[in-house]
Amino acid sequence: MIIAIDGPSASGKGTIARKLASHFNLPYLDTGLLYRWVALHLKNKNYAPDDAAAAANAAIFLRENIKEMGFDDPELRSHAISQPSSVVAAMPEVRRELVELQQQFATQPGGAVLDGRDIGTVIAPQAKIKLFITASAEKRAERRFKELQNKGQTATYEAVLKDLQARDARDESRTTAPSKIAADAVLLDTSDLNVDEAFAAALSIVKENR
Ligand code: DC
Repeated sequence: MIIAIDGPSASGKGTIARKLASHFNLPYLDTGLLYRWVALHLKNKNYAPDDAAAAANAAIFLRENIKEMGFDDPELRSHAISQPSSVVAAMPEVRRELVELQQQFATQPGGAVLDGRDIGTVIAPQAKIKLFITASAEKRAERRFKELQNKGQTATYEAVLKDLQARDARDESRTTAPSKIAADAVLLDTSDLNVDEAFAAALSIVKENR
């Protein structure tokens, strides 16, 4: 069983994906981490975030060493890496290097849960279970803002909302694998749901579509 989950940031898709993976005892891949890794690598090596050649090389390195990658650097998920990760994610030469390893993960025996922006459309279009998790930009910004406050990172709600909208626009308008709902995906709006309610709704969608 492949569970393909897409949606914008702070929609709740990561939490839902993790909970579904644990419920069904399936391996889980947060594919956003791959683009975040490329962006952080550029930053650490002092390359500009829009240096496509350096980003492609970083993606090749990541592809070749994926088994050794822990993805445990807390900076990967930081606010500072969010914007540059959407810049590298728009580069066809970066996406090309990372498609196959995601497809291998998706098609492993027994199945898998993956979340991202193009799982239902590009990585695993054959998946029988596809969810597109969304929420209003304001609700998502509110969640991200609270998360940052809890981590002690400084940001204003307005700045978080603006960042999120800029990132949504870039992810949705790029030419390669833009973020969009697959024709056969089920839409779940979590704007007015808490974590337990959102998971319960996702679980019933999975059970109906199994
Ligand atoms: O889900 P996230 O915020 O960790 O993703 C980081 C960036 O990577 C985001 O701007 C969208 C992009 N991304 C993508 O283009 N395709 C994916 N499958 C996953 C993430």
